[in-house]
Amino acid sequence: MTADAAPPTVPELLEGKRVCICVGAGGVGKTTTAAAIAVGMAGRGRKVAVVTIDPARRLANALGLDRLDNEPRRVPSDHLDGLGEGGELWAVMLDPKRTFDDLIDRVAPSPARAAEIKRNGVYREISSAVSGSQEFTAIEKLYELSEADFDLVVLDTPPAHNAAEFLSAPGRLTAFLGGSALKALMRPTGFGMRLLGIGAMPLLAGLKLVTGVDLLSDLTAFFTLLGGMTEEFDLRARRVEQLLHAPDTAFLLVTSAQDRPLEEAIWFRETLRRDGLPFTGAIVNRVTRPLPRGEVPLDLPADLAATVDACLADHAVLAARDAANIERLRASFAGEPILEVPDLSADVRDIEGLHAMHRELFRD
Ligand SMILES: Nc1ncnc2c1ncn2[C@@H]1O[C@H](COP(=O)(O)OP(=O)(O)OP(=O)(O)O)[C@@H](O)[C@H]1O
Ligand SMILES: [Mg+2]
Repeated sequence: MTADAAPPTVPELLEGKRVCICVGAGGVGKTTTAAAIAVGMAGRGRKVAVVTIDPARRLANALGLDRLDNEPRRVPSDHLDGLGEGGELWAVMLDPKRTFDDLIDRVAPSPARAAEIKRNGVYREISSAVSGSQEFTAIEKLYELSEADFDLVVLDTPPAHNAAEFLSAPGRLTAFLGGSALKALMRPTGFGMRLLGIGAMPLLAGLKLVTGVDLLSDLTAFFTLLGGMTEEFDLRARRVEQLLHAPDTAFLLVTSAQDRPLEEAIWFRETLRRDGLPFTGAIVNRVTRPLPRGEVPLDLPADLAATVDACLADHAVLAARDAANIERLRASFAGEPILEVPDLSADVRDIEGLHAMHRELFRD
């Protein structure tokens, strides 16, 4: 693609894709973009599920739902009005605790064992810890929905100060649940107890890293309860890895054109490529576009005209910064597409807002 060619649209980027993961720094518009992409792709006749994370309540309302659930709820088709025919949109709001519980129900050898695990203090801490469990369960939910009969699953990702957290946290937790330290601990004849006494520091440090918990007795009980399930966790982890690396998965990087998110976007794209993950392109959101000066009314009182001029000058500075940053992003990409969405002034808080965002991403 030459620098002058029009960037592709979202449907072009997602051609042949079954999974779309919207990643990026905190507050750049991941949740909104994921919703707009899902709405638009459903409008193109696909059966789409979107997993949102901590959406503003008004986003659920914008989708015509009084609330969102951990299980997919069908968005009323009149919300796709004007966008096309024949598709379906289903929306989920990730509930990490319930997703974790569902996973234990699926993996445990019996309902009684599942119930016991869910009562365990360590489990309760891990499954409701804010750090790590959202990332882990987001991926788990994605895996679950990718097995259902959707044409496309769009995943929003948790607010992270650092986008890299999204990639590293699930692995940390999976390594913990299925890892070799745990297997060594599970060996019979008291070896595990000895290990817990002598060699548990890295393990406990691992747990503390994930959850901040270090309850020794609950921990022993937890490992005992998980005995026999670790292979299942390992197997699931491998399948999830396959899904994330699959050629019909798309990682879309959402960013703003501000300095820090943009730096992070450049770094994040390098990380995705280094890890062999299918990076598909970037969406630069809330871009300040230059204003045509001709629109300024000329017959204003002098003081007001001065204020307007000052505002326009500020705006021009922001627009120039955004343009320069987008150039920088382009230079660091190996020709991967960059889509731009302007700052839509009023927050994107209702169905009109989503449609406006959709028009930018789908150019129709
Ligand atoms: N193009 C846009 N123009 C105007 N407002 C926007 C645009 N995109 C997103 N917003 C607004 O920006 C705010 C943040 O968006 P959003 O919640 O989607 O970000 P996020 O990346 O999901 O944040 P977090 O990392 O906290 O989850 C919201 O109030 C949203 O309505
Ligand atoms: Mg969000």
